[in-house]
Amino acid sequence: MNIAVIGSGGREHALCYKLKQSKKIKNLFCIPGNAGTKNIATNLDIDILNFDILLNIIKKNKIDFVVVGPEQPLVSGIVDFLKDNNIRVFGPNKFASRLEGSKAFMKKICEKKNIPTAKFGIFSTKTEAEYFIEASNTPIVVKADGLAAGKGVVICKSKDEAKKEVKAILEGKFKSSRVVVIEEFLQGEELSYFVLTDGENFKFFGSAQDHKKVGEGDVGLNTGGMGAYSPSPLLTEEIEKKIKNKIIKPTLVAMKEMGHPYEGILYAGLMIIKDEPFLIEYNIRMGDPECQALMIRLESDLLEIILSVLEKKINNMKINWSKKKSITIVLCSKGYPLKYSSNKLIPDLDKINQNENCILFHAGTYSKDGKIFSNGGRVLNATSKGDTLVSARNNSLKIIQDIDWKDGFYRSDIGWRAINKK
Ligand code: AMP
Ligand code: GLY
Repeated sequence: MNIAVIGSGGREHALCYKLKQSKKIKNLFCIPGNAGTKNIATNLDIDILNFDILLNIIKKNKIDFVVVGPEQPLVSGIVDFLKDNNIRVFGPNKFASRLEGSKAFMKKICEKKNIPTAKFGIFSTKTEAEYFIEASNTPIVVKADGLAAGKGVVICKSKDEAKKEVKAILEGKFKSSRVVVIEEFLQGEELSYFVLTDGENFKFFGSAQDHKKVGEGDVGLNTGGMGAYSPSPLLTEEIEKKIKNKIIKPTLVAMKEMGHPYEGILYAGLMIIKDEPFLIEYNIRMGDPECQALMIRLESDLLEIILSVLEKKINNMKINWSKKKSITIVLCSKGYPLKYSSNKLIPDLDKINQNENCILFHAGTYSKDGKIFSNGGRVLNATSKGDTLVSARNNSLKIIQDIDWKDGFYRSDIGWRAINKK
């Protein structure tokens, strides 16, 4: 089969890495891809939101099947478009993608199905929102309803700050919508829980924890993710049962009842408080950088797994994971998540020692004249697995130290909560 992965981050490099191992693959493409995917797939450099051009390139390269990495094309309806044009594709349709594309939509499902989540209000006018803020305790979490490239959530320490944030969102700070969700602040530890589903049945597809804050010790500004580890030690049998019964199952039932069964990967971002899971958000795709930490542990054939979802045979599929622990550390451009420079040379990446326990996934990189340059805030993902989280982390740190890139920085404490617990 000829397969294309859509996207250009570390997540997509990790997906390509796993798909490439499948015996069923003839040609692998990444659209548009990065300097890492270029080594294992054919990169096709086009705008992934221009669906007509995308369709042309899919037909021209005789691509049989498309796997979508990021949320934006899913929310924009790429699955509906490709299916209408008889191209097989893995991911939720435009309606079902609202689980991530609209926080208000997700919250209404929680309300309808009694899914545990933070108490909330949804507003499109300032007066009502301010009234709600006045009656709330601080901190107050203010969220833009639509996609905001990871910048749509602010945890406000004061009511004044919350009001300012609400005003900005209602006045159009984000193009995606002028609706705001205000919610209570939940204090706990976060867990990323993944399932694969055909809309009817679902299967666990790994757990992880990521570090969103830029600074060591989890301080400072929010980022897309500075690192992740898998599996999550938070996930006990008892908590998993609650996640499945109180959160995943009712959500899938709700989607079916609305006439849009959810097909694809569903990523539940959860807050665990005193052994109880609360849904913070849904994502309609793999996490980045969680995916990198998961793919290095996945032992089964990723293509066979995905095909089993499309053929509604996910229940018969046995998914094997390495018992080892994995960790990925993100090497970022200095200044990220604020102002940073791109197009910086990253020397000697070809000299980095890699093997099945130790992989350097690329995120924001491109190659030109045989050299590799940075192309964004999150640039490389040093991903390792080991018998313990500490040994995995040491391997990833070694890769990063070998890179010796003066324009980059990273957190050396990824996994600290799990490591310190022992
Ligand atoms: P979201 O985009 O909804 O995942 O929010 C981004 C991040 O903000 C989450 O991963 C949490 O770290 C934090 N967050 C969101 N909602 C809440 C909440 N109600 N209480 C505490 N932290 C939250
Ligand atoms: N790592 C968080 C996300 O992918 O949304």
